[in-house]
Amino acid sequence: MKIDGKPHRTIWQDGDGAVRIIDQTQLPHRFETVVLADLGDAAHAIAAMLVRGAPLIGATAAYGMALAMRDDPSDAALKAAHDTLLATRPTAVNLRWALDDMTARLSVLAPPARTDAAFARAAAVCDEDVAINGAIGDHGLGLLRAIHERKGGTLNILTHCNAGWLATVDIGTATAPIYRAHDAGIPVHVWVDETRPRNQGAALTAWELGRHGVPHTVIVDNAGGHLMQRGRVDLCFVGTDRTTASGDVCNKIGTYLKALAAHDNGVPFYVCLPSPTIDWSLSDGAAIPIEERSGEEVSHIAGLTEAGEVMRVLLPPQGSPVANPAFDVTPARLVTGLITERGIAPATAEGLAAMFPEFARAA
Ligand code: MRU
Repeated sequence: MKIDGKPHRTIWQDGDGAVRIIDQTQLPHRFETVVLADLGDAAHAIAAMLVRGAPLIGATAAYGMALAMRDDPSDAALKAAHDTLLATRPTAVNLRWALDDMTARLSVLAPPARTDAAFARAAAVCDEDVAINGAIGDHGLGLLRAIHERKGGTLNILTHCNAGWLATVDIGTATAPIYRAHDAGIPVHVWVDETRPRNQGAALTAWELGRHGVPHTVIVDNAGGHLMQRGRVDLCFVGTDRTTASGDVCNKIGTYLKALAAHDNGVPFYVCLPSPTIDWSLSDGAAIPIEERSGEEVSHIAGLTEAGEVMRVLLPPQGSPVANPAFDVTPARLVTGLITERGIAPATAEGLAAMFPEFARAA
């Protein structure tokens, strides 16, 4: 993505080596960056959702390990950093993937060699994410091009939550084909689910699509089914926080309802899936841990007042009980295809194993 004409990632190291992120809790009304000075900052940034989205959570965890090694490269500190970061959020498997990867590479080194190796690997995790998302974009572009050649006119794509540039190190997963298509001159328009309760669609997806000049319309979460019935959605692209080896897709709460509506209306429903988001140890989506977040995310909402201040207000009656499951699981049978960095796989155990034989064999 470009911000003010300059290429920008969501996590990076400054010239002086400081690890910096965009504080996504301030978007869309303020663009602020903050430094992650140590392990505690990295853990806080993930848990409090200054950074969010499965791939970016993984990348931040990798830098969290590097920051921990800079302060103390001992075996005990390595284990403590792994455990501290793993406890931040339960659902996105990229977190565990990044922490296990870092631990495996660092534990075999002598402690004095760990800090440099950890920062180098964290930077490589970021570069790999960008490459994966670029490849997802290329495969998704092929799909969009084919649909556009068949149908002509503007392609209307519905997306849920933010699986965009802001959810990854760059480009995004669900947005990658959209940016590729837009840049290639294929007319696209995005229906952006607002994605209550945290409004990642309204706040983040709408912001980044707007920055890139992609036509889009924010809709309430309940509008998607109606738009599909009326033939106003050509296909859905969503991201995922964890996909099982059999193709069950865990993603932001509400994704399942969109998949049901898409199925009922014959609208193709694609999941953009980087390989670090596949949990090869699970074959049943029901086994995925679903994060329960604070009820305050449901009972309160924040927005910009006419006076230009961000204000938080209470929605339901004071004291009404609230519940806040943050993710749901869409069964593989409702998924048209999984757009991975290696191509588009059917959402089946066989489809994923054929696409990633080395991982499937190792599981
Ligand atoms: O709670 P969040 O904002 O971290 O949830 C993000 C999502 O559900 C995304 O769709 C998912 O992580 C895929 S990001 C490429």
